Amino acid sequence: MSVHKNVKRVTTHVLGAMKLKGEKITMLTAYDYTMARIIDNAGIEVILVGDSASNVMAGYETTLPVTLNEMINYASSVVRGVKRALVVVDLPFGSYQGNSKEALASAIRIMKETGAGAIKVEGGEEISESITRILSAGIPVMGHLGLTPQSINKFGTYAVRAQNEGEAQKLIEDACLLEKLGCFAIVLEKIPATLAGEVAKKIKIPIIGIGAGKHTDGQVLVLHDMLGLNNEFSPRFLRRYHNLFDEITGAVRQYINDVRMCNFPNEKEQY
Ligand code: KIV
Repeated sequence: MSVHKNVKRVTTHVLGAMKLKGEKITMLTAYDYTMARIIDNAGIEVILVGDSASNVMAGYETTLPVTLNEMINYASSVVRGVKRALVVVDLPFGSYQGNSKEALASAIRIMKETGAGAIKVEGGEEISESITRILSAGIPVMGHLGLTPQSINKFGTYAVRAQNEGEAQKLIEDACLLEKLGCFAIVLEKIPATLAGEVAKKIKIPIIGIGAGKHTDGQVLVLHDMLGLNNEFSPRFLRRYHNLFDEITGAVRQYINDVRMCNFPNEKEQY
């Protein structure tokens, strides 16, 4: 059954109201029309066209290679499949860190060419000028702190972040700054659950966690990971709701077998 009857579009304001009411926010990634249509119809509030597309769609090892043009292609396909959810698009590596005018130009291209509702950027104080400029053009911005995969070459590891006092303090300060600048929400990735809970309590905008425990205002996962399409990625925080890798393998093997054995097509499947 569709959830779309009599249901309004999810906006950044709806998410703020959900936090006030203590309602958990759900978010998943999508990169194409078909998947976006399914998860929107299932009732998800936010669809993130993540730069994880670089890994799960294009097969790169990191999120760094995906380009702005590729993100625009993924995002416009997603938007065409969505009737209710808020679609948020990652600004890819290199499209916003260098200078704030370039950041604004990248964000404008995403909003103009995809029809998405917001953009997401990784980082705090060091990208505050870019965030301010994007916000000044009326473009909603979601922040992303903790493990920020676009900085993998700086950190050299995907280990849990902000485990020591200094890093935890910097994360809290960055979260306060993102709220002050006017971001509508923040993703916290792979940090201790108690720290994420502390930030969610301190900050008025919604905090969406991934590998950040249950005390955040919502959760996000990469769709391909939670559906078990990728059987090579098993971090502790990931719950697999299906094992589509095995299911698809089984279906394809059955098809191969049917064709080889002249079991497909049958009398009813031909003209
Ligand atoms: O790119 C992505 O999928 C993300 C999520 C992990 C939050 O940023």
